[in-house]
Amino acid sequence: MRDFAAQNLLEWYDRHARDLPWRVAPTRLAQGERPDPYRVWLSEIMLQQTTVAAVKSYYERFTSLWPSVTDLANAEDADVMGEWAGLGYYARARNLLKCARVVAFEHHGVFPTTRDGLQELPGIGPYTAAAISAIAYDAPEVVVDGNVERVMARLFDIRTPLPAAKPELVEAASTLTPDMRPGDYAQAVMDLGATICTPRNPACGICPLQSPCVARSEGVQAELPKKTPKKPKPTRLGIAYVARRTDGAWLLEQRPDKGLLGGMLGWPGSEWNDAPEPLPPTDAAWQALGEEARHTFTHFHLRLRVEVALLPLDHVPTRGRFVAERDFRPSSLPTVMRKVFDLARHRFENATNP
Ligand code: ADE
Ligand code: SF4
Repeated sequence: MRDFAAQNLLEWYDRHARDLPWRVAPTRLAQGERPDPYRVWLSEIMLQQTTVAAVKSYYERFTSLWPSVTDLANAEDADVMGEWAGLGYYARARNLLKCARVVAFEHHGVFPTTRDGLQELPGIGPYTAAAISAIAYDAPEVVVDGNVERVMARLFDIRTPLPAAKPELVEAASTLTPDMRPGDYAQAVMDLGATICTPRNPACGICPLQSPCVARSEGVQAELPKKTPKKPKPTRLGIAYVARRTDGAWLLEQRPDKGLLGGMLGWPGSEWNDAPEPLPPTDAAWQALGEEARHTFTHFHLRLRVEVALLPLDHVPTRGRFVAERDFRPSSLPTVMRKVFDLARHRFENATNP
């Protein structure tokens, strides 16, 4: 089964590999071209828990602003965090910068080639280390992401629910990983999971693995992988304060590096809990909006009451700093702060004279 399945998958990949900006197509690889480990690393960090479609424009922007790991290492923290805004998981962006600086300044700008070497770098866990090692250096590493888990559960009809099934799924994946073209193979399984062996309606009729696939022959493919039900997320409450000066400047705050949205720009606010105490950044005639901003994080739902105030030109705030209208890019806000802005912005139209 092993060589046969891997071989079929590679032949399928030769014809159907997705055209992705960070990928070196199998035909070009066969001619000796190698992927740039910096680009492979950047794409894998961005793709953790985020879709290919969402990542593309961020990837293009990062690589045009910072074409090499040394360029990224020399960037200002705030610029990198601002460009990452919207992708979520901001600890990853901080680790991205840390990792770039370690590679640039301690490894002469060259990424380690082995899985173990890669895993010592900030923000690189077992999955990412295996993926970079396989894709960038063609090492025969077993690469298991969510797509691969789904394909393996179906191919081998593994009915243990996730996450308990992970070791079994990794074991199944390791029996299949070939010594020939392991980098293409790793990406082939991912592509198969993303385009054919999809969560809801797998297209088994055109699947290169249809003959060895056990779940398909049992007719249970749509029910796999099984998942242990998750606990429902709690809801937390908070208050966000949006103030604008009459010249158009906005009162913003850089969040501390630690914690959720760490290092990101945002509206000053209360704590987020069951019953938040008001914590306005400055004395003003705050007015609550009728609508709340809602956002869901990994572990909780958040509902933010939004309060707005217009401040005179000579106002000195207790907390935060004014960002001039021409320097303010709403796209540099994390998504929840962007939602707050979209609710509040209308209140200031006609109220300022920039
Ligand atoms: N998802 C995560 N990494 C990927 C890759 N290298 N190719 C396709 N999908 C992916
Ligand atoms: Fe997935 Fe169907 Fe292919 Fe099996 S045959 S791997 S269930 S798409």
